[in-house]
Amino acid sequence: MANVIIVGTQWGDEGKGKIVDLLAENADMVVRFQGGNIAGHTMVVGGEQFICHLIPSGILQEKTCIIGNGVVVDPAVLLKEIDALSARGIDAGPHNLKICEKAHLIMPYHRQVDHAREKFKGDKKIGTTGRGIGPAYEDKATRRGIRFADLLEPEVFGEKVETIVDEKNFYLKNYLSSDTLDAEKIIEEYQAYAQRLAPHVTNISVVINDAIKNGRQVLFEGAQGTHLDIDHGTYPFVTSSNTLAGNACCGAGIGPKKIDVVIGIVKAYTTRVGQGPFTAELFDNIGDAIQKKGAEFGATTGRRRRCGWLDTVILRNSVRLNGLTGLAITKLDVLDGLEYLKICTGYDYQGELLEHFPASLKILAACKPVYETLPGWSENISGIKKLEDFPVNVRNYLDRIAELTQTPIHIISVGAYREQTIVLKNPFA
Ligand code: GDP
Ligand code: IMO
Ligand code: MG
Repeated sequence: MANVIIVGTQWGDEGKGKIVDLLAENADMVVRFQGGNIAGHTMVVGGEQFICHLIPSGILQEKTCIIGNGVVVDPAVLLKEIDALSARGIDAGPHNLKICEKAHLIMPYHRQVDHAREKFKGDKKIGTTGRGIGPAYEDKATRRGIRFADLLEPEVFGEKVETIVDEKNFYLKNYLSSDTLDAEKIIEEYQAYAQRLAPHVTNISVVINDAIKNGRQVLFEGAQGTHLDIDHGTYPFVTSSNTLAGNACCGAGIGPKKIDVVIGIVKAYTTRVGQGPFTAELFDNIGDAIQKKGAEFGATTGRRRRCGWLDTVILRNSVRLNGLTGLAITKLDVLDGLEYLKICTGYDYQGELLEHFPASLKILAACKPVYETLPGWSENISGIKKLEDFPVNVRNYLDRIAELTQTPIHIISVGAYREQTIVLKNPFA
């Protein structure tokens, strides 16, 4: 019996969706605990691709899927996702998709502020996804947020929307020179969402804790990645929630002693979408080749992902911050055919070898990656099913990652399909 957290170790898009979908086979419940519909988690099953933005990636395995209190939810996006799944024969009804009554709503003014602020900032922009995530968490922190519990009480909802829209319109018009919004229209639109979503809304802390008490296994699905965490990431080039494993407890209403395993998903190289520091970034034809072969385009926004070598400075940071008990290495097949591979083992800051990932962006910008070089492999590894069958240079690369991170590798992924996975240790077994 185990309860397992999955988190991204880099800057997101590590392949969390694929691994969650795979491990969900042995779980009873899959829970999203933070973020919003910025996440783009891809699963490829039976030759078909599915991308989940809000609904946990356990939905294809027909498990109970839960959107925790820590998530900010755009109801329009959620309904679209439910309908899109339903059109493909996948049920996400009130019996298997539950939403926390304490989860906050993303409102139209959050999206409007997100876009207008990015435009206002010009070349100083964060490169947000424009989905209103930051402004929604901002209202939650300043205690002006609107929760599902409010949505289900029309009078409370109407009053809250009217008060806040007044203030948002003032800010949008006078500071951001942007269009304003109509409170009545929003109220009408959201009442329609309330009617459809009400049967899904419940106290998910009770649901999850009861399940654990009854011996069920729960998989907690992190979104984004460790270095996009609002506290520990490359602030301010981060998302607006805590993406770390520790937040699975707050964002789902469970105690820390309920967690047994924390798996960090590691892409076999590094990528980043949007602005922000990236020490091991590649600007040459190797970076281009990885971007092309790895199809590194954002699953939510379609933006080209920046690519670089594997960086074990950030991985060691992730191991410590999340208390990782094991790693899942993904997209290893993308490195097929490279003559050599580099691993960033440290950061050189003005001649000094930094032991820990720095908080100062000024220091980070001045850091030069210290690399060690390993031989590559020419074989196509995407069909390999057993660790022993990997070419020796693949084994050496994996061994070196485990050594540099001081963390065992439990899962290796060599393709987007479920079957293209070597599970050395199943956390639920
Ligand atoms: P997530 O946000 O962490 O769930 O990752 P994304 O879904 O945004 O991006 C990962 C992409 O890589 C998706 O298109 C996956 O289908 C794909 N993928 C996942 N694992 C592998 C793998 O081992 N090899 C290859 N070639 N593609 C993979
Ligand atoms: P998954 O779960 C990669 C990035 C955005 C931007 C920054 C802030 O698929 O790994 P926000 O809209 O959150 O205010 O944007 O964070 N970002 C992601 N990058 N994968 C994600 O999610 C991301 N979610 C946010 O590109 O730079
Ligand atoms: Mg993604």
